[in-house]
Formats: sequence, C-alpha cells, structure tokens
Amino acid sequence: MAMTYSEKVRDHFANPRNVGTIEDANGVGEVGNAVCGDIMKMYLKINDDGIIEDVKFNTFGCGAAIATSSMATEMIKGKSIEEAAQLTNKAVVEALDGLPPVKVHCSVLAEEAVQAALEDYRRRKAQTEDKAGAEEKK
Ligand code: FES
Repeated sequence: MAMTYSEKVRDHFANPRNVGTIEDANGVGEVGNAVCGDIMKMYLKINDDGIIEDVKFNTFGCGAAIATSSMATEMIKGKSIEEAAQLTNKAVVEALDGLPPVKVHCSVLAEEAVQAALEDYRRRKAQTEDKAGAEEKK
C-alpha cells in the first residue's frame, strides 16, 4: 500500500519554511533518532521579553522530518517561550492534516528539537544570571 501524504505535508516538504542556521542564536537544540539515524538541529533567537523572534532548523532527515520541523518553526515563531514549550508533536501532525502512522516518530523529532533548544536557552540564561549575581557580589 502506498503511503499518502496530505497536501500540507507535501507543501512543507517541497518548500520548507525557516531552513538554515541563526548565527547569534541563544537556544540551540540537536536531537536524533537512533532507529532511523535522522538528526535535527533547531536554532532559536529569543528576545528579552521571552518572545521567539526567529527560528531556523536544519535536518539530515526524511521528508516527514523536514515537513514537521518546517511546520513546528511556523507554529512557534513570534510566540512566547511558555507557548512554545506547550508545542506537541500531536499539534504539529494535526496542523499538517495528519501523517502516516509509521512517520509519526519524525514529528516527535521536531518536538524534541524545539524542546531541546528551549532547554539550552534556559541553561544559558541561568548561567548568565549566575555570572551577573557573582559580579554584583564582588
Ligand atoms: S524516518 Fe526518521 S525522522 Fe523520519
């Protein structure tokens, strides 16, 4: 049986949004799937108000990984960190009008990449705050 992809999946695969890297990203996440070997890297540029000003992704992955990360970047761009943290692979799949069941793990990769980038941002922020605190004590 041939797999069928929705129009939206095919569109995001053929014209992925927000592909690339961000030089001065302040949150970067890289995740991989051990089974298929696909890798995804997500870059976030978050401003002082905690809004995701820019987001880009790079993937060495399958078509569904490209389509889901493309959709995921569109869903979190301009959103707050809190809103982005709520992003689930289920919401991404729904926004793409579905994925064949064997391809759902690809959307999990997209979700994990976003969460890993957010985690990296929080870690960096905590570090700068620690440093600032240490400076003040001097
Ligand atoms: S086959 Fe692994 S991410 Fe799609």
